[in-house]
Amino acid sequence: MGDFILFAHRGASGYEPENTLAAFERALAMGARWIELDVYAVEGELIVIHDDRLERTTNGAGFVMDGSLAYLRNLDAGKGQKTPFLREVFDLVGHCAGINIELKGPKTASPVAALIATAITTGRMTAEQFIVSSFNRKELLHFKDIYPEIRIGAIVSGVPRRCVMFAEKTGAYAVHAGKSMVNRRFIAAAHCRGLKLFVYTVNKGEDLKRMEDMGVDGVFTDYPDLWF
Ligand code: G3P
Ligand code: MG
Repeated sequence: MGDFILFAHRGASGYEPENTLAAFERALAMGARWIELDVYAVEGELIVIHDDRLERTTNGAGFVMDGSLAYLRNLDAGKGQKTPFLREVFDLVGHCAGINIELKGPKTASPVAALIATAITTGRMTAEQFIVSSFNRKELLHFKDIYPEIRIGAIVSGVPRRCVMFAEKTGAYAVHAGKSMVNRRFIAAAHCRGLKLFVYTVNKGEDLKRMEDMGVDGVFTDYPDLWF
């Protein structure tokens, strides 16, 4: 499959509780070259969790942004796993894989930029290991502004032509689009502007094959062993 990328979506979340160290460890053990995760900034820490509320993935209740760091940290995120800090994921991954960090919470651009900068200047990771993405255009533009050397991905929904125009205008590396949006025209529009097209969330072999045949550059999947 050449340069085609399988992003382990929220880690190997089809096998382990999503966005936990167990899910990222499992993805690495399966040979994933990239993992994807979602972050919120709480009391000076970046915590890795997807929803803005706690009920679906933890034994807690309420909004993530309303919880104290101590409360969030003591929750069970499944199989006794804690909600990890982003820096712990960096430590786990080291040089072994790329990380697509999705800015989910408010005011995440600046602390994520700072954490990446530290990982790079201390030689623990390299700039090529990161793609920072978001649905939140304000956070994404802010990140690009403060750390232009790191590649960004514009997660899009809506009119494909406008999405591609936005991604090009922001200097994005990639467009991240839902699989129902994707067709050959959209792919061509992205490619002719020098953008990669990554598609979420692809959990069936037949969909993976269809995406690959159409010429997308990679997919997000809960099953990073999908093609084996
Ligand atoms: O970037 C792909 C994907 O992660 C975006 O959707 O809701 O799974 O974070 P979501
Ligand atoms: Mg995500």
